[in-house]
Amino acid sequence: MSTALIVLAAGKGTRMKSDMPKVLHPIAGAPMLVHALRAGATLEPARIAVVTGHGADAVEAAALEHDPEVIAARQEQQLGTAHAVGCARAALAGHDGDALVLYGDTPFIQPGTLERMIEARRDHDIVVLGFEAADPGRYGRLVMNGGALERIVEFKDASEAERALTFCNSGVIAADSDTLFQLIDAVGNDNASGEYYLTDIIGIARAQGLTATAIACDEAETLGVNSREELAAAEDLFQSRARAAAFEDGVNFYAPGSVYFAYDTVIGRDTLIEQNVVFGPGVTVESGAHIRAFSHLEGCHVARGAIVGPYARLRPGAELAEDVRVGNFVEIKNAVLDEGAKVNHLSYIGDAHIGAGANVGAGTVTCNYDGVSKHHTAIGAHAFIGSSTMLIAPVQIGDHAMTASGSVVTQDVPDGALAVARARQVNKPGLARKLFDKLKHAKNKNTKGAS
Ligand code: UD1
Ligand code: MG
Repeated sequence: MSTALIVLAAGKGTRMKSDMPKVLHPIAGAPMLVHALRAGATLEPARIAVVTGHGADAVEAAALEHDPEVIAARQEQQLGTAHAVGCARAALAGHDGDALVLYGDTPFIQPGTLERMIEARRDHDIVVLGFEAADPGRYGRLVMNGGALERIVEFKDASEAERALTFCNSGVIAADSDTLFQLIDAVGNDNASGEYYLTDIIGIARAQGLTATAIACDEAETLGVNSREELAAAEDLFQSRARAAAFEDGVNFYAPGSVYFAYDTVIGRDTLIEQNVVFGPGVTVESGAHIRAFSHLEGCHVARGAIVGPYARLRPGAELAEDVRVGNFVEIKNAVLDEGAKVNHLSYIGDAHIGAGANVGAGTVTCNYDGVSKHHTAIGAHAFIGSSTMLIAPVQIGDHAMTASGSVVTQDVPDGALAVARARQVNKPGLARKLFDKLKHAKNKNTKGAS
């Protein structure tokens, strides 16, 4: 049976004190909303509806950028969670199967938890995700009777006895899609907030003779983000989980607390990550690679045995093949470095291809931008680029070719050729000494005049 997702993301998030909609604030380089969508995606949903309201245009754009199949459902006025789910009705029209409701501001829900909910649906008409709260605060309380969920009561409407319950509502709910919308139609807003509560569907369902249950997850999974401080705490939680997962996968760290991951970082086993390394989105590091201290990587791939840094910057499109060396103060962007290529010091390599075993000397720059367009540089296998060569793209250096240090290379260099593109040196005997004397004399004269 297929499942459709309904992700609620219309709320304002007043406490963020931000012009940006709450669900777009990033954790580990991706909007909170994307974290929720990724967790839901593991169920291979038949459809995904995202309910938007505050900052709808931006939220929809971010959702579609992540997954072009997302169906946006507008909620013009935020009348409550039941009303929000109701706004997804058209998006789910004709869907034959379950609907699973997620919140866009709850980024830590684990895929395995959602799978357990879908499994529990085999025996119950409605499954709610609950958690034992250390401090139940203002969460909705789950009123259980054995394994059956009788109803959910919102904090504001709860009696003293109900407020004493610690089993709380996460907000995640699964039910047959048609049943869900039928129940939502029956929800009213006669409560302490004057809102249409999604939580009311449980009492209504039970009165209709339907069954409901709640399964429990770890409280950390249901962590919502409502303020900047909670956002920072969520980032911390993400990072400590990512570090723990990396250890589990066989990654080595000298100082794990100083390494920052993106939501999608992939690192192979027996990789060594030194201190103060930052991974932006889209990085894959293969087994046995070594990322040295103070390096920054995003949108790149580092193959087995490659060594990067210290102080290296790999930008989107950097592809490092096996045993490549990228050293200190080297920036690589949109460039493929074939097996064993070396760029060890102070260089910029952008929009380029570097052949296997080529050696790029210190201070080399691929001059890829003419102020209007970007151009490509190709360096052949086993080429030797002398220190401080300026490669004016588009340009090709052949296999086993060389460039003399300090060259400004504007023309292609054939295979095996040496390109010398710099002024010829002239030595003037004794002239340095004469010049020094002259300069010193001038200086003395000036200082005397001033005193
Ligand atoms: C809700 C639950 C509560 C639960 C808590 C868990 C209800 C009535 N209450 O309360 O039982 O313990 O979550 O965090 O469901 N949203 C919309 N449109 C709306 C209202 C909300 O899209 O009209 C979205 C919000 O953006 C948010 C989510 O729904 O992502 C939850 O709304 P929120 O106002 O935070 O509900 P709570 O009061 O926290
Ligand atoms: Mg909330």
